[in-house]
Amino acid sequence: MSALRPYALRCDHRSTPLGIDEPAPLLSWRLASDRRGDDPTAYRIRVAERPEALADGGRLHWDSGRVEDSSAIGAGYAGPALRAGTRYHWRVEVWSAPDDAPADAVSWFETGLTVPSGAAGRSGPADRSGRSGWRASWITHNPDPIDVVDAPTEGERALDDHGLAPCPLLRRAFSGAADSAGSPLVRARLYVSARGLYEVRLNGTRVGDAELAPGWTDYTRRVQYQTYDVTELVGQGENVLAATVADGWWSGFVGFEPRRAGAHYGTFPQFLAELRLTRADGSVSTVVTDDTWVTHTGAIRHADLLMGECHDLRRAVDGWELPGFDAGGWSPALVTDAEHGLLVASVDEPVRAMAALPPVSVTRISPDTHIVDFGQNLAGRVRLGVDALAPGARVVVRHAEVLDDKQRLYTANLRTAAATDVLIGDGRQHIAFEPRFTYHGFRYAEISGLPELSADDVVAVVLHSDTPRAGSFDCSDPDIRRLHSCVEWGRRSNFVSVPTDCPQRDERLGWLADAQVFLPTAALNADVAAFFTKWLRDVDDARTPDGGFTNVAPRLAGVADEGAPGWGDAGVIVPWHLYRTYGDPRFLSRALDGMRAWVALIHRRNPDLIWRHRVGPHFSDWLAPGAPTPREVVATAYFAHSTRLTALAADALGRHDVAEEHHRLAADIRSAFVDRFVTAGAAGAAGAADGELRVAGDTQTGYLLALAFGLLPASLDAGAARRLAELVEAAGPALRTGFLGVALAAPVLDAYGRADLAHALLRRTEVPSWLFPLRHGATTIWERWDGWTPNGGFRAPAMNSFNHYALGSIGEWLYRGVAGVDQSADSVAYRRLRVRPAPGALTYASARYESARGTVAAGWRRRGDRLSLRVRVPPGATAEVFVPTTDPGSVRELGAAPEDDGHATLIGTGPGHARYQVASGAYHFTAAYSSAARPPAGPHEEDIP
Ligand code: BGC
Repeated sequence: MSALRPYALRCDHRSTPLGIDEPAPLLSWRLASDRRGDDPTAYRIRVAERPEALADGGRLHWDSGRVEDSSAIGAGYAGPALRAGTRYHWRVEVWSAPDDAPADAVSWFETGLTVPSGAAGRSGPADRSGRSGWRASWITHNPDPIDVVDAPTEGERALDDHGLAPCPLLRRAFSGAADSAGSPLVRARLYVSARGLYEVRLNGTRVGDAELAPGWTDYTRRVQYQTYDVTELVGQGENVLAATVADGWWSGFVGFEPRRAGAHYGTFPQFLAELRLTRADGSVSTVVTDDTWVTHTGAIRHADLLMGECHDLRRAVDGWELPGFDAGGWSPALVTDAEHGLLVASVDEPVRAMAALPPVSVTRISPDTHIVDFGQNLAGRVRLGVDALAPGARVVVRHAEVLDDKQRLYTANLRTAAATDVLIGDGRQHIAFEPRFTYHGFRYAEISGLPELSADDVVAVVLHSDTPRAGSFDCSDPDIRRLHSCVEWGRRSNFVSVPTDCPQRDERLGWLADAQVFLPTAALNADVAAFFTKWLRDVDDARTPDGGFTNVAPRLAGVADEGAPGWGDAGVIVPWHLYRTYGDPRFLSRALDGMRAWVALIHRRNPDLIWRHRVGPHFSDWLAPGAPTPREVVATAYFAHSTRLTALAADALGRHDVAEEHHRLAADIRSAFVDRFVTAGAAGAAGAADGELRVAGDTQTGYLLALAFGLLPASLDAGAARRLAELVEAAGPALRTGFLGVALAAPVLDAYGRADLAHALLRRTEVPSWLFPLRHGATTIWERWDGWTPNGGFRAPAMNSFNHYALGSIGEWLYRGVAGVDQSADSVAYRRLRVRPAPGALTYASARYESARGTVAAGWRRRGDRLSLRVRVPPGATAEVFVPTTDPGSVRELGAAPEDDGHATLIGTGPGHARYQVASGAYHFTAAYSSAARPPAGPHEEDIP
């Protein structure tokens, strides 16, 4: 009997999402089994509004019928149009042997306030216009009365408010009593958005746990809303909906400053909410934002993502969010408009408070000032408990990533981001102070205004987009374990609604190249499918009128619009990688037009196929130490790469005409690259001896791009790999790569038989290396290899972040190379695994990854002259396993010949390994592995079949 078990049911890559507006969501599952070769053969999905109908044969909304498909891990909903505001329950059944009973699992999803009609695919805001079901209007505070009643107090005048206005409070009381027919409430949904940021409460209870909602988009193109189930919060008598709104990305400081707040999207925050109350008799009543709401300001005198937040408790309006409050002195809200055309349901999980870190030390530096060390560079904010604060007395919290040589906060690298939160007392006691509409990148906080501060009074609240953990990595070298942790903290700190470059200075933008080089690492550490689904909409929204991708997304008027080589190309690379990782073809179908337009744009400007006429700026191999790689080499390599990936995307979508055209163009660009930049056999080229291959510029990144992107004829690969290795060795061994080259270094060296060099780079402790910052206290990856050095101190503060993830792209190789968890080049969604560990001098390494198909794991350990390798292959997948060994004849699996139980086949031996093809399941290989006779280096192609 089959032991197959579907689990982790997802709808559009999220678990039980509330409020989706995708007309044909993807319903997916993963599989587990404790038997080998227990693979799926067929599935069936049923969808119903009543959960019982799934079991009792009641009315189904959709039944896929039994679908014979051994590779399926999901299917797009293909039933009748989904209705808005409806919860759908679904069940998947999966068969292993055709006659066995199927295994099943259930889940649900719920549609949002509107569901546009139409099939799966790109459904931009334009598709939604005219089909709006919204009744709510956008409202805001009336600025005039606020100015009158809100003249700054003495204390506030002395405070830099950065020109920001207080956060408006908005409230509306309504009756929750049963309707006249006495029909009780059965369901209440709150649909909310803001132009700015919102926090909403119902009868004083905070609704949901989203932070910085509704998230960052180009608000001129798309505004997200969130849906909350508030059924339990609605009472019988008077109820109160209450919201605080703040500037956020909409009207606060964003990107490079000083530029005035509100320069990019809007000038004052606005709020939109629609509460739908459904009674047992089916009647629906609504409470919507309109001119019946009233507004005031309260304790939050300003709140800004870059500048920080100020709470003046003398301004607090106690009880304003509760029923019974007298709002007599409040002003009517101003209706700004009733535009709903840009509203979309959010497709990712929100930013949430994901952890709370206690201090590792609290140090008094003056009578009322302490420096708190949280031991970890992070993005978030400080939560502070204050026993009592006299009226007008201030507590000021400043943030920094590092301390200077006098052990004081080093804030120069924050540029104009004040990153300062202020609390002003009013004499009350037991104050819990935590800013709500800002976040900072910091490890240290300086807290002034409190003579006493204990470690129990303060925690760092870690904020990031809720991206479920997917992978773990471990190995015998504590430095590499810490490196892995730094890489992951860089991801957490920078996945805040969009993938940002850094969380601390006045920038925090969605730079495209940073995202594309780091995505493979990010997608191993976390499930980023929903997060990047959302960001790819930002990338698409940002496209320039001639079709080009930009450098940053969401687009920010005035910030380096047109995409540089390697930056704009992320619009092609990111969807391709997501498709390969998650197997969802919509990553490609939504992106293909943009991919084609991007390739066509570069082609139009560079008809001779050498990308020399810029589309936008040129950042080259950003921040590479040493001689720069010629710009045309970098650019043309990316042109070829993007064109090839566009062809592969078209192939995957069955668009063979498009594919063929792009394959041809890619081949032509590769030829042009070789003709123009590659010399082989010509003595004199960059010091080459006769017969030696050179790529123009003779830089590491030049060879890395040529090899990683397959730009050379196969006959030249070995020569390029040899030269690459020479350059790496001559440098230290060390890298001379920047953001673009670094991601390729270890994988390419490994692929060409030089895992030993990749390991040497990993272990290096001098600049440039990953371990140098770690030796000097780093807990995240630095923007620059030498952001701080013992001799030079801090690099120029204009660009010196200590929490940039781009150089952390080595994280990918820890999984794929060191531990060996990988999929083969032609595999999608881990259907064909490739487990090829590179032990180096380590004694053990392991990685576990929750793939879209199920759990993938590999772990090896050396003991004396033996090596053991454990591998887990999910149902529906197979694996090619390279068992590292110095004696292929010695390989055993669970003590027997590997082929014995019929699930493993020896398919070859090569330098230092025996290669097996295995079916799904768990395996434990052992083999002779003598350190003295370390496997010789050699390219993988030398495998003997
Ligand atoms: C950002 C980078 C970005 C770069 C573009 C910097 O200011 O921090 O991460 O990719 O600009 O060159």
